[in-house]
Amino acid sequence: MRSELSGFLAGLSWPRPQGPQFDPETAPTDPVALFERWLRDAVAADVPAPHVMTLATVDVAGRPDARVTLLEDVDEQAFWVAASETSPKGKQLGRVPVAALVFHWPQLGRQVRVRGSVRAADEARTADAFERLSAHARAEALVDRQSLPLHDEQWLSDALGDPADLIALEQPGASSAPAWRLWGVDAGRMEFFQAAADGHHVRLRYSRSQDGYATELLRP
Ligand SMILES: Cc1cc2nc3c(=O)[nH]c(=O)nc-3n(C[C@H](O)[C@H](O)[C@H](O)COP(=O)(O)O)c2cc1C
Repeated sequence: MRSELSGFLAGLSWPRPQGPQFDPETAPTDPVALFERWLRDAVAADVPAPHVMTLATVDVAGRPDARVTLLEDVDEQAFWVAASETSPKGKQLGRVPVAALVFHWPQLGRQVRVRGSVRAADEARTADAFERLSAHARAEALVDRQSLPLHDEQWLSDALGDPADLIALEQPGASSAPAWRLWGVDAGRMEFFQAAADGHHVRLRYSRSQDGYATELLRP
C-alpha cells in the first residue's frame, strides 16, 4: 500500500544537470586530478558546501555505518577526514581500516565515489590540520566524547564556554587533542558519475594497479 509519503516522494524531481558536461575521452589518467577539476566545477556552479561528503565505515561485526563529514584534504595518497579515535566512526576506522566516501553535486548531476583502505595520519600531519581548526572546533576536539548520550547539557556548554580558556587549561602548548586525528581513505578505486538530461549517463571507474590506474566505463 502506498503511503502519503510515497506519493510525495514520487512528486519530487531530480534537477536537470547544469554546467559542464563530461567527456570521458578527455578524462586525466589520475582520478584525483579529475576530482579536483569536478570540485572546482562544483564551486563555480555555487553548489553549497561541495566539500561535504558521506563517509561510510564498517564495525567489527561487519555492520555498515555512514555519516556526513568534511573533506579536510586530498593528495595523491588519500582523501583525508578528521575524526576522534573515541567516536564510533573513529573506532570503526581504526579497527576495520576500510571506508567509502560519496560526494554528490546535484546541480551538476555528478557523484564521486571513493573506496579504499584507511590509514591514520602521522602526528605531524594531524598537528598541522589541528592548528588550522577554529578555536571552537579545537575546544570540541579537546572535550571529545562525541556521540555519547548528552545527559548534562550544562556541563557541555560550560566546557565549551570559552574555547580559549579550555585550550589553555587542558592542553598547555599542545598542538593537537589526544583523540583527534586525520584519517586517510586511499583512492584505490574511484568512480565518477555524470548524469545527462537525455538519460545517457556516464560512469567512469578508476582502479589502481601496479602500472597506475586502469579505467573502464560502466553501464549506468
Ligand atoms: C555538514 C556536516 C559536516 C560534518 N563534518 C564532520 C566532520 O568533519 N567530522 C566529524 O567528526 N563530524 C562531522 N559531522 C558530524 C557527523 O555527521 C556525525 O554526526 C558525528 O561525527 C558522529 O558520527 P559517529 O557517531 O558515526 O562517530 C558533520 C555533520 C554535518 C551535517
